[in-house]
Amino acid sequence: MQDNTYQAIARFVAQESGIKLSSGKAYMVETRLEPVLSQFGISNFEHLATQLLAAKGDLRQAVVDAMTTNESFFFRDRTPFELFENVMLPRIAAQKRRTGQSLRIWCAAAATGQEPYSLAIAVLENQRLLEDIDVSILATDISQAALATAEDGLYTQFEAQRGLSARRLIAHFQQEGRAWRAKPHLRELIEFRELNLLKSLQQVGRVDIVFCRNVLIYFDVETKCHVLGNIKNQIVDDGYLMLGAAETLVGVCKDFLPTKEHQNLFQPA
Ligand SMILES: C[S@@+](CC[C@H](N)C(=O)[O-])C[C@H]1O[C@@H](n2cnc3c(N)ncnc32)[C@H](O)[C@@H]1O
Repeated sequence: MQDNTYQAIARFVAQESGIKLSSGKAYMVETRLEPVLSQFGISNFEHLATQLLAAKGDLRQAVVDAMTTNESFFFRDRTPFELFENVMLPRIAAQKRRTGQSLRIWCAAAATGQEPYSLAIAVLENQRLLEDIDVSILATDISQAALATAEDGLYTQFEAQRGLSARRLIAHFQQEGRAWRAKPHLRELIEFRELNLLKSLQQVGRVDIVFCRNVLIYFDVETKCHVLGNIKNQIVDDGYLMLGAAETLVGVCKDFLPTKEHQNLFQPA
């Protein structure tokens, strides 16, 4: 692919999703977009770049889907889920019990679903703490393809084994051939919805806990700051924001402050 074609595609991807492609990624972009060329009968990358200027829904979405990295696994990094159970839930549950309000959790880059299902498992495992409290999880992502997998809730043996103990697997998934499907009691806790973090987030409503992990790393500082500002508007004043292990807000944004419990767990400033 010629350099100006690469630049045009990278500009499109950044505008649509915030994902910043550094130079030297042309090979990766070609590999990911070749199936899109075949699917839409486009003969080469130069034509794709031209068509993207005026492209409508399907082609735009296919390129975004192809350019997102949807890598995830159950109970990824463990610590965020320990903090969820030991810090976030006890404090917020006590408050909800006093006020009678529901507890809302938002998984803002849900990818193929392992993160919201892990949260749902953690909620079910803390049922006594959450007794009489209405808990719901909103799982959103920009990638329609990833969300379709998440909603389907079907994982290969390999995917299921990445992070799920045998006990959790048997309790919350049923075997279908050689794969495992999330049981209805897990699915019922989660609503899946397509949402681009660059756009207005008002449709999310007010939430108590946000998991937004391993997505800001793809954005430049300005985009991170914009997204975090919008997330702050959706979190209740004493709610929590959990970022990924490699994500820091130092020098990025003053909307959130790290908690004493963990450097990647934040509260609105
Ligand atoms: C590496 S996955 C992270 C999955 C999960 N949070 C985890 O940590 O395991 C990153 C996800 O961010 C999503 N994403 C990228 N840009 C986005 C945007 N602008 N709005 C919403 N989701 C986005 C991608 O589609 C992808 O599914």
